[in-house]
Amino acid sequence: MFTKIIATGAYVPEQTVTNDDLAAIMETSDEWIRTRTGIRERHLFEENENEKALRAAAQASEQAIKMAEEKGFSREEIDLIIVATSTPDFTFPAEACLLSDRLGLPGRAAFDISLACTGFLAAFSTASAYLASGMYKNALVVGVDVMSRLLDFSDRSTAILFGDGAGAVILSSDERFREGAESGVQGSILRSDGSRGSVLSYDPIYKNGEGKGSFFMEGRAVFEFAVREVPKLIKDLLSGSGAKDQAETGSTAEAESKAGDEASELKPDDRGACKEAIKPELYVLHQANYRIIEAVAKRLKEPMDKFPYNIDRYANTTAATIPMLLDELLRSGRLRDGEEVVMAGFGAGLSLGAILFRW
Ligand code: UT7
Repeated sequence: MFTKIIATGAYVPEQTVTNDDLAAIMETSDEWIRTRTGIRERHLFEENENEKALRAAAQASEQAIKMAEEKGFSREEIDLIIVATSTPDFTFPAEACLLSDRLGLPGRAAFDISLACTGFLAAFSTASAYLASGMYKNALVVGVDVMSRLLDFSDRSTAILFGDGAGAVILSSDERFREGAESGVQGSILRSDGSRGSVLSYDPIYKNGEGKGSFFMEGRAVFEFAVREVPKLIKDLLSGSGAKDQAETGSTAEAESKAGDEASELKPDDRGACKEAIKPELYVLHQANYRIIEAVAKRLKEPMDKFPYNIDRYANTTAATIPMLLDELLRSGRLRDGEEVVMAGFGAGLSLGAILFRW
């Protein structure tokens, strides 16, 4: 059984907020934000807008459905809807149930997955496992986050990093989309280290909506985790080999400059990893910091032109970064038939995920 991405879509809210706009309300500067993160601007919902996550998810989904329809697919064929989000409109009902209704697709299997920035990869893996099992045939997988809901604009260390957005893909196991014999999802790995959950957390404070919750992030620890673990995860995915259990610490500068092959401190779960060494053409990484992308490229000994990015325009949209970038690549003709593509990300958990597919 094969599973393949047949269409993508993306959405960001209209309001653009530049670094200079943020510098007007907090002690920061365009120069600091650009050089430390690569971000120039982000899109944020206006505070008084409603149904933010639902509207973003629905717009991205409609775009994906339109693209799929141009290939002879009908929206009625979607039988599974999974939404990855940490910022749903409601704690319950699940965003996916509301989205199913908004898209005119009642009665579908629909549920949310919460794994912060790794959420889209978890949702995608779940959908592709369902499709591979034959239980469902066509899945709509959405990554959506309204980070403006959580941000504290008096905290410059986190408020500058995030944006709002949504990305969607339609995954199909229908033989009519099997254009190349070997096309489709080739493997996936998810890992987590809950002992480091406190490094990146949001406490919503369930108190009749009084006050805001608290956002906590040890930026350097997350940076170092990403630079150390993402390359190893990708190597494990591509080779099918396991990783040893060994810790390593260091500054962000050290993490960026080292280009070694250190062992992972996480126990691997290599189910679904590929069996032969593969050299991908593109790496679609979670967009958290341009310097992280550069450091991952360096550790993988791959050129930067294999690492497309859009963090400069959208900042970190959490579960939406990877499907939003994928949509851009597909619409600009950058994804070419037969090419291998890795999607990889990391985030709160701490968690990690990587998926390989052949376009
Ligand atoms: O999807 C996962 C979500 N999270 C992440 O991906 C975060 C990953 N981490 C990072 O991207 C980086 O660690 C940051 C961009 C958050 C920070 O960069 P850094 O190079 O690790 O800087 P730092 O935290 O070590 O801070 C350096 C200095 C500090 O001042 P002092 O103590 O050296 O005087 C900060 O107070 O920069 C200061 N600083 C700022 N200055 C201007 C922190 N935030 C700002 C700011 N504007 N917005």
